Amino acid sequence: MLALVTPPPSVQVKTLLLHRLAKPLVFGLALLPFCWLLLAAVGNQLGANPAEALVRALGDWALRFLCLALAVTPLRVITGTPALARFRRLLGLFVYFYGVLHLLSYSGFDMGFEVADIGKDIVKRPFILVGFSAFVLLTPLALTSFNRAIKLLGAKRWQRLHKLIYVVAVLAVLHFFWMRAGKNNFSDVYVYATILALLLGWRGVQYLKKKASLASARRC
Ligand code: HEM
Repeated sequence: MLALVTPPPSVQVKTLLLHRLAKPLVFGLALLPFCWLLLAAVGNQLGANPAEALVRALGDWALRFLCLALAVTPLRVITGTPALARFRRLLGLFVYFYGVLHLLSYSGFDMGFEVADIGKDIVKRPFILVGFSAFVLLTPLALTSFNRAIKLLGAKRWQRLHKLIYVVAVLAVLHFFWMRAGKNNFSDVYVYATILALLLGWRGVQYLKKKASLASARRC
């Protein structure tokens, strides 16, 4: 009688992550906030100021996907699950997807797509300038997310360029913090700031460890 052997959890997780439906599933889940917001907007479920609620909610989701995208590498290393890396690009592109919708909703609802007014507003309101800077830095990262771009740039230059995501993370939290400065409500800003500080801090520690081990290898 053949005994059914259940594979260890790490193997089960790996099989799930490598499953051909895993990426479409994550793609579908990442689209859910957008679908929900669309339905809520159509159903007039976004409260007294739907335009503001939409701009803010899309900004929130851009920031949440930024945290998720930056969490992939630490999770991969800490849990020893290389298969997690296959979701990083997808999550990174959703940062840009919600960032673009955030910018479009602000440009449309707040500024009536008046480019001159948007330009004036960027200069006038520092938190908008910071948000805009984050968006500008995100753009080349999104545009070079494809294999062809990696080949064209070469792995080293591509990796150096994509370190800009750390600057985007700091700018996005500063944008959020500054936007809330007049409202004295920082609770969720501190949550994102702590998460991003941990994710960037972990990378800082890895970098110092690598440097130290290279230095000691050179001494040997
Ligand atoms: C062109 C770029 C951007 C513009 C013009 C912009 C504009 C805005 C505006 C007008 C608000 C709401 C202000 C209010 O309701 O008082 C806002 C809030 C926010 N934005 Fe941006 N933003 C930009 C880029 C970004 C990026 C790249 C991120 C994140 C990756 C981001 C994340 C947020 C967050 C988290 C909020 C706060 C939402 C809340 O109150 O819960 N923004 N932004």
